[in-house]
Amino acid sequence: MTALDLSSPVAVVGTGTMGQGIAQVALVAGHPVRLYDAAPGLARKAADAIGSRLDRLVEKERLTADERDAARARLTPVDDLSGLAGCSLVVEAVVERLDVKQELFRALEDVVADDCLLATNTSSLSVTAIGGALRVPGRFVGLHFFNPAPLLPLVEVVSGFATDVDAATRAYETARAWGKTPVACADTPGFIVNRVARPFYAEAFAVYEAQAADPATVDAVLRESGGFRMGAFELTDLIGQDVNESVTHSVWQAFFQDVRFRPSLAQRRLVESGRLGRKTGHGWYDHREGAERPAPHTAEPAEPPAYVVAEGGLGPAAELLDLIREAGIEVREAEEDEGTRLVLPSGGQLVLADGQLAAEFADVVYFDLALDYRRATRIALSHAGHTSAETVAQATGLFQALGKKVSVIGDVPGMIVARTVARIIDLAVEAVAQGVATEEDVDTAMRLGVNYPLGPFEWSRRLGRGWAGALLDEMHEVDPCGRYAPSLALYRYACATDQREDTP
Ligand SMILES: NC(=O)c1ccc[n+]([C@@H]2O[C@H](COP(=O)([O-])OP(=O)(O)OC[C@H]3O[C@@H](n4cnc5c(N)ncnc54)[C@H](O)[C@@H]3O)[C@@H](O)[C@H]2O)c1
Repeated sequence: MTALDLSSPVAVVGTGTMGQGIAQVALVAGHPVRLYDAAPGLARKAADAIGSRLDRLVEKERLTADERDAARARLTPVDDLSGLAGCSLVVEAVVERLDVKQELFRALEDVVADDCLLATNTSSLSVTAIGGALRVPGRFVGLHFFNPAPLLPLVEVVSGFATDVDAATRAYETARAWGKTPVACADTPGFIVNRVARPFYAEAFAVYEAQAADPATVDAVLRESGGFRMGAFELTDLIGQDVNESVTHSVWQAFFQDVRFRPSLAQRRLVESGRLGRKTGHGWYDHREGAERPAPHTAEPAEPPAYVVAEGGLGPAAELLDLIREAGIEVREAEEDEGTRLVLPSGGQLVLADGQLAAEFADVVYFDLALDYRRATRIALSHAGHTSAETVAQATGLFQALGKKVSVIGDVPGMIVARTVARIIDLAVEAVAQGVATEEDVDTAMRLGVNYPLGPFEWSRRLGRGWAGALLDEMHEVDPCGRYAPSLALYRYACATDQREDTP
């Protein structure tokens, strides 16, 4: 099954933000494109707006004037659905309401031929439910573009329960022919990106709700340690708190209120207060002109320790040992090298976040996971009320001597980056185990759809297959609400190693 022929007319129904973007993509690829919107005059306005965007592409020398003129000539707004007769593909981008979409597709089936591919750009509704109303449901797929569609490469090609393989393949190949990077995905709440990304927001909000760190500190740690392009608070201010919350809410509902997807009360209050983010001038942050951006917590300079004793190789933080030596601090190797921690001259221990609380131990400071300890510019530390001040100062001084800023946060299990990455890996592994997508496609989707520095499977390979499950196990033990219970799929995934017991 190949991509649609470029001579095949493509229709876009609903000519708002997404419809215009998708129409531009199909048009620039070379198709004749027809636009329809229920609001009178909007399709024509959309055609003008697309025309202006083509002009800008000519100015930027990404399109020649001849190509623009030809594209404009291929673009036709229509006033009535019947004007879409003869199209080979219809992409729907109308309001996010199941009844409206179902009614639209039922009406479309009376207009187009039975072999016309029908696609929805829904971001949160069930593709199966929308297609369920159709006379010929096999030709119905989800084609989930990301905003802005002309710029962002990812398209999730979603197969509903009744979608024919041929229809999904044709949609996939067509998206690829349009210059996009398609990923194939089964119909699941949130598809790939919006399902697997939920913990990125939820865990940041949970750390804040626990009063362990303020938004500026969490964001700085996610960026400077986690390697994420933006922190969860600033990103949701950009997306719109109402939009982000409504995706979270619909995924949670669609999973029958699975506690692992539970929305955040703090975000609920923010939305109730009308602080929706940049668009209203205020969200987690104040975006009004002249408003000062709060600074993340950054510890005052402290004396570094003269030496550290390494018990074990520090696992995913092994590179720290090189950095410590390069900073001129002696690394003594413990005779017994069972553990994965540094013992400080104070006698206290510095331990990579493992899902436990510092409060459980006599004198422990936890440090957070970093994407790359050499490149990280900030590291979060957490400790208990009874942890000795000397241990906290030596831990702080150690990371400062490596050139890192230090953010001291409250004693939360799994800190910030570690819990976020562990939960993302868990949801990714579970999605693959449930046949939602392949590992490669999940990694591609998360890198291109939400700009993660690594796909969850790439990350997991770096950290070790058992890392996420071990961290979540510990978190589940200290916080057994169910939210951190690792999935069976993650357990199975972690067991896929060469080191097995001989008998049960
Ligand atoms: N905005 C995003 O970031 C984004 C990203 C991915 C997917 N989506 C999905 O794309 C779809 C459209 O979102 P949007 O942001 O472009 O919305 P929008 O509000 O900008 O545009 C929707 C358009 O649909 C028209 N419309 C409504 N009912 C109609 C009907 N029955 N027939 C024809 N036209 C109708 C409206 O007049 C409006 O012009 C939604 O399903 C949304 O979930 C949005």
